[in-house]
Amino acid sequence: MQKARFEGKAAVITGGSRGIGAAVARRLAGEGAAVAIGYRGNREAAHALVAELAGDGGRAVAVQADVADPEQTRVLIDRAVEEFGRLDVLASCAGIEHFGALEEITPADFDRLFAVNTRGQLFAVQHAAAHMKEGGRIVLTSSVSASRAVFGHTLYASSKAAVESMVLNLSAELGQRGITVNAIAPGGTATDMAAEHGTAYQHPGLVGKMSMDEWAGVQIALKRLAHPSEVAAGYAFLASDDAAYMTGRTLRIDGGMF
Ligand SMILES: NC(=O)c1ccc[n+]([C@@H]2O[C@H](COP(=O)([O-])OP(=O)(O)OC[C@H]3O[C@@H](n4cnc5c(N)ncnc54)[C@H](OP(=O)(O)O)[C@@H]3O)[C@@H](O)[C@H]2O)c1
Repeated sequence: MQKARFEGKAAVITGGSRGIGAAVARRLAGEGAAVAIGYRGNREAAHALVAELAGDGGRAVAVQADVADPEQTRVLIDRAVEEFGRLDVLASCAGIEHFGALEEITPADFDRLFAVNTRGQLFAVQHAAAHMKEGGRIVLTSSVSASRAVFGHTLYASSKAAVESMVLNLSAELGQRGITVNAIAPGGTATDMAAEHGTAYQHPGLVGKMSMDEWAGVQIALKRLAHPSEVAAGYAFLASDDAAYMTGRTLRIDGGMF
């Protein structure tokens, strides 16, 4: 029988309280990992997930840490190491959306988006890698938006495009220590983020004329949004030994988005 892939391993998941990050926490814990779940404000959801995972026999803790502040990320990672005695996997899932036309973007919008989606991920890698041994696995989060043109999406898309270059370049350094670093680029995934912003992905001429499901039906080969667990499977793959010879790459999981 195959051994659980993450038995005896410990993982930190930023943005683990909801959506894709929560699905990653469930998947890694379900395959044996002890997980530290980072969240920004949603304490209740994070602690409910810890209780759920503990109820299933897993080991989990929740730690409040705003990834826009690298010191808070350091506290999250240090707490995981303190609690579990090691760190094998970083799944960096925390992220925020933004839509706004060029003339509406403010320097504060820019700083906020990049502080969370880009700078936040870089410093999560820095703090996590400091604790990892050979075989460590780092999985960051980009988006299909990094390589698609969408009206009003410049800030979000470019904050994610930088992440794809980040993993490519970090792979050279971390490869020296036998640590891999890759990214997942999810397509439309049924989470709170998609519920809140999903229709903004439509051409401005179509907004209000198509439901999210109708849009997915014409824009995605598989004709629907992803379930978060389907995207989480990609994080688990990149975090596992199955992906031992894969680094510096971004894996799109988008149902065949046009
Ligand atoms: N859903 C999609 O269609 C889609 C597509 C492509 C890429 N993505 C990317 O996938 C990732 C997860 O997205 P999602 O759809 O699951 O989002 P979501 O449902 O909005 O959940 C966001 C998660 O990130 C956390 N978070 C937000 N800002 C944070 C901060 N400053 N510090 C720490 N945690 C923070 C939230 O914590 P709280 O619960 O405490 O607020 C929550 O756990 C993001 O990086 C997103 O950009 C999503």
